[in-house]
Amino acid sequence: MKIMVVGGGGREHAIIKKLKLNPTVEKIFCLPGNGGIAEDAECIAIGSTDIPAIVEFAKNAGIDYAVVAQDDPLILGCVDELNKIGVPCFGPDKKAAIIEGSKVFSKNFMKKYGIPTAEYEVFDDAEKALEYVKSCKIPTVVKADGPALGKGALVCMTREEAVNAVKEIMEEKKFGASGDKIVVEEFMTGPEVSVLSFTDGETVVPMVSSTDHKRAHDGDEGLNTGGMGAVAPSPYYTKEAEKAALETIIYPTVKAMKAEGRPFKGCLYFGLMITPDGPKVVEYNCRFGDPETQVVLPLLESDLLDIMLATTNGNLGDVPIKFSDGGACCVILASDGYPEKYEKGFEITIPEDLKDKVYVAGAKLSDGKLLTNGGRVLGVVGTAESLPEAVKTAYGCAERITFKNAYYRRDIGKKALAALKER
Ligand code: AMP
Ligand code: GLY
Repeated sequence: MKIMVVGGGGREHAIIKKLKLNPTVEKIFCLPGNGGIAEDAECIAIGSTDIPAIVEFAKNAGIDYAVVAQDDPLILGCVDELNKIGVPCFGPDKKAAIIEGSKVFSKNFMKKYGIPTAEYEVFDDAEKALEYVKSCKIPTVVKADGPALGKGALVCMTREEAVNAVKEIMEEKKFGASGDKIVVEEFMTGPEVSVLSFTDGETVVPMVSSTDHKRAHDGDEGLNTGGMGAVAPSPYYTKEAEKAALETIIYPTVKAMKAEGRPFKGCLYFGLMITPDGPKVVEYNCRFGDPETQVVLPLLESDLLDIMLATTNGNLGDVPIKFSDGGACCVILASDGYPEKYEKGFEITIPEDLKDKVYVAGAKLSDGKLLTNGGRVLGVVGTAESLPEAVKTAYGCAERITFKNAYYRRDIGKKALAALKER
């Protein structure tokens, strides 16, 4: 089988490493991939949102199956276009990807079906939105309706911040047309848990839970990033939280998407907050999370390609899906200064025995050398029989990978494990 993966970060690298284990896979292409992914797949210099070029490539290369891993192409309808030329895909079509593509859609959808989430108001007029935030409860959260590279949610601790957020999004168009409409929502509190799940539109199988670490520095200080590390399973996802999430959020969401005529096939990501009133949805994503995938897939004991094909073919109930009982920890090695200013172009040294634990996000090949080429450079993952051991393993590995301006958090998993001990 010839497979094409659309995307080019650590998440895609983790997916490719797992797909390679299936004996029917002859060849994997990654569009565009990166210098590190090039060890495991043939990288093709086609941007992940250039849908006509992606379709053309699939046709010419005789692709049998496509995994569209990134949000933008999914939201733009990459799966619909590939299906038109007869290429089956892992991932939702445009109609279903709207669950991530529009916050207004997802909020109205949750309200209609009684799925727990923050209270909210929608605005398409800046003046009315400004009027509202001048008297709404503070803190509050202002969100651009459309995609904004994961930066479209502004948590506002003061009224001034809320007013500025509305101005930036709706008047200055910081996120372009994605800010034509906004959602202003209630500020929720509690730890965050990501639940990625496989679904074929009807059957849904949640994967092991995980928790991302979005802030740049230890103690959850500093700016928001694309993710500085993750652990699985999430110590915050207690049996009680899991039961409530399944009954009030996960099963109802998949059922309701079907009822809306938007059956969701692929990986549906539930971003949950475990509030004092139980789990509530912070966001839905129409794809695997990054860096959550880097801790979830190493714990998957079943064959990923078989599961993916079953989501596409609608027989998810027929394939075994088993996760190990152990834990996994991913530490992201970033370029110092990320997410603001940083230098790149430094040589990365990865000991040979660690190669299968490394998922590369921002690197390029130059004269056979792997050089840093982004803010988040790579993730190194430790797996073990328990989460504390996995954390130790991951840090042991992180120390042995070098590049000139490497920076990483020293406390991935720490807070969550401490919370676990208190219980
Ligand atoms: P989103 O892009 O919607 O996932 O939001 C990004 C981050 O902002 C989340 O991971 C939360 O940490 C935070 N956040 C979003 N919505 C809320 C909310 N209603 N209450 C508190 N924090 C939120
Ligand atoms: N880790 C957050 C995301 O993938 O959106």
